[in-house]
Amino acid sequence: MSYVPAEVLSNVNVYGQYFLVTLRVLRNYRRPPLPPQFAMVWVPGVDLLPLSYAVASGRIVGFFYKVVGEGTKALSTRSRGDVVGVSEPLGRWYMPRGRDVVFLAGGAGIAPFLLYLEYVEEPRGLWGVRQGELAARLTKLFPKLGKLTVTSEDCTYGLCGKLTDHLDRVTVGRDTEVLVSGPSDMIRKVCRRFRDLGLGRVGVVAESMVKCGIGVCGSCLVGSVLLCKDGPVVGCECFV
Ligand SMILES: Cc1cc2nc3c(=O)[nH]c(=O)nc-3n(C[C@H](O)[C@H](O)[C@H](O)COP(=O)(O)OP(=O)(O)OC[C@H]3O[C@@H](n4cnc5c(N)ncnc54)[C@H](O)[C@@H]3O)c2cc1C
Ligand code: FES
Repeated sequence: MSYVPAEVLSNVNVYGQYFLVTLRVLRNYRRPPLPPQFAMVWVPGVDLLPLSYAVASGRIVGFFYKVVGEGTKALSTRSRGDVVGVSEPLGRWYMPRGRDVVFLAGGAGIAPFLLYLEYVEEPRGLWGVRQGELAARLTKLFPKLGKLTVTSEDCTYGLCGKLTDHLDRVTVGRDTEVLVSGPSDMIRKVCRRFRDLGLGRVGVVAESMVKCGIGVCGSCLVGSVLLCKDGPVVGCECFV
């Protein structure tokens, strides 16, 4: 896998454990990143982290991430002028075919949809967060996020409760395409609901253990799909 050196332009603590790092890659990608592709972000001396492109514009790329362990913690300490490595875009890009696109995201699962919002004209959907303040702050950085309805567990922003408490507000027709991203239990509930309705097409932007990133080691298998090669969008059958 080849890496492009990238200089940190900013690394903003959006709220709590959530950060947005913006980088300038120091040479051109062979192919520009498209949603929902991801990169292996190399934090020198620490780890390689799979992260979804949330921003991709020329040589500027950005990743919205939650600090969960050593690697993401180390990334959160990098500041302007530090250098990290970013792989060429991995996985297949995927554009919904129709005009009616619904995004359903839980927590950091919003990351790939931040880039999708640049491509989908009239998106709708739900973003579930624990604390409403996260949604308020990220929406200031990504105004198009305002097109999605927020559900907050602390009831301080948008609808009160979990995303899965409000799924019946999401109307779907035969031409609706639903994309889901977030924790597996949320994905399972969403998949079951749309399977029972028998309407719309549902794709899951999945996560798994990525090691080689080039379809060789088999560690990223989701159902029968190699996430790094044929994902990250997989069908609901991998979850229910
Ligand atoms: C294709 C892909 C895209 C991703 N995009 C993003 C993104 O845009 N933003 C973001 O915040 N995260 C994203 N992730 C998850 C992110 O890669 C992990 O959170 C990160 O690698 C954890 O590394 P760590 O060293 O900080 O924590 P570790 O020490 O490796 O793990 C700490 C804890 O987090 C859990 N964990 C680790 N990896 C994952 C994972 N993939 N999914 C769920 N739990 C995990 C571990 O089980 C452990 O409990 C993505 C993962 C994949 C596979
Ligand atoms: S990470 Fe090795 S096959 Fe996907």
